Amino acid sequence: MNFQLTEEHLAVQQAARDFAQNELLPGVIERDTEQKFPKDQIKKMGELGFMGMMVDPKYNGGGMDSISYVLAMEEISKVDASVSVCMSVNNSLVCWGLEKYGTEEQKEKYLKRLAAGEIIGAFCLSEPEAGSDATSQRTTAEDKGDHYLLNGTKNWITNGNSASVYIVIAQTDAAKKHKGINALIVEKGMPGFVVGKKEDKMGIRGSDTHSLMFTDVKVPKANRIGDDGFGFSFAMTTLNGGRIGIASQALGIAAGAYELALTYSKERKAFGKNLSEHQAIQFKLAEMATKIDAARLLVHQAAWRKDQRQDFVKAAAMAKLFASQIAQEVTTEAVQIHGGYGYVKEYHVERLMRDAKITQIYEGTTEIQKMVISRELLK
Ligand code: CAA
Ligand code: FAD
Repeated sequence: MNFQLTEEHLAVQQAARDFAQNELLPGVIERDTEQKFPKDQIKKMGELGFMGMMVDPKYNGGGMDSISYVLAMEEISKVDASVSVCMSVNNSLVCWGLEKYGTEEQKEKYLKRLAAGEIIGAFCLSEPEAGSDATSQRTTAEDKGDHYLLNGTKNWITNGNSASVYIVIAQTDAAKKHKGINALIVEKGMPGFVVGKKEDKMGIRGSDTHSLMFTDVKVPKANRIGDDGFGFSFAMTTLNGGRIGIASQALGIAAGAYELALTYSKERKAFGKNLSEHQAIQFKLAEMATKIDAARLLVHQAAWRKDQRQDFVKAAAMAKLFASQIAQEVTTEAVQIHGGYGYVKEYHVERLMRDAKITQIYEGTTEIQKMVISRELLK
């Protein structure tokens, strides 16, 4: 395995780092406090090509590999995980699935605008009673010949209010269980589609998470992704790649907190010397840096396997499991190194600690990743 990043990778990493420092850092505390969706920042990211990084240029994408994507995700997440979750959903859950499985007409109509960042997308699998147990879909898509009639509620949808295009997973033929599920493209404004309440969250408070209600929404058959009954397989396959995105988000949150703690430890004095001169602090930094490096290797391995078209299901789940775990540990230690200053908003690490938690919950909880990994090991 080659650990050397190419010049293109380094350029993408630098561009994301510059954008995060210049455009995301100013205002990140206010956006978190006020739960303000980063609309202007996302628009600029679209213009810079961060919203459809891996999409073929013929559909307005950046034509980049997954390594470039995780490098950018890490840099953006170091500063603002509310922005990076929007980026991750648009890139890996919406654009990727549409490019891989959508029809040419769907790509022309939706993918081109999503990849250019003109509009953003949402991925709607979870329901009030179907989270980890995703095959228990209650939302129905009744086959009416030339269209589906969509009824039900989706929960916790990232970009819930800001999106224009929603990929909605729904049950068409319950007798066929997960093989009777479809994935439909739903547009905001379709009659019967209502965006519900915004969640008031612990972390990633700038991202807009909503429930969505569908009552007799007529969705044309042309908006189905893949063959009849392909919807659950579509969701699972798409989530395999999505988990690499969330793993890189967790990695970025951890690395951002570590970098702040490292800098602070060299500035703050206690007992006549810098914190960084106390061995107890040095050992904390050593542990944090080691965990981050290990997580980065897993994330890059998963991205590399995907780029090489090798099976990456286990690698992606391992990367997400480990990176989300170390994000908890590293952000908590970063707050500890900052002492009381770490507990207030001004120093950023408390936000990173709050943001870290969600990476153990969405796109498959820690327990679900262990299920995925153990099934792969035992099959
Ligand atoms: N990749 C491809 N296919 C998969 C798969 C994977 N990782 N995991 C399961 N499947 C397929 C199986 O092969 C099976 O299909 P076949 O019958 O055709 O072989 C089908 O899915 C059902 O699988 P199981 O029989 O294993 O079903 P299960 O109910 O025992 O377990 C599960 C399924 C893996 C737990 C699945 O429900 C799951 O992943 N749950 C977590 C849901 C999740 O990740 N939600 C995220 C929502 S999006 C989100 O969160 C976005 C965000 O926050 C930003
Ligand atoms: P449950 O499934 O009820 O799980 C509760 C607990 O039980 C968890 O610890 C879980 O690991 C554990 N558990 C469940 N089953 C088992 C088992 N068999 N063995 C051991 N432990 C088990 N979903 C989307 O579709 N799209 C989105 O854009 C999206 N964005 C989100 C954004 C946020 C901020 C949040 C909070 C959630 C988002 N989700 C989204 C939903 C997310 O994917 C689910 O919350 C997650 O999959 C868990 O489902 P649940 O909340 O119903 O928990």
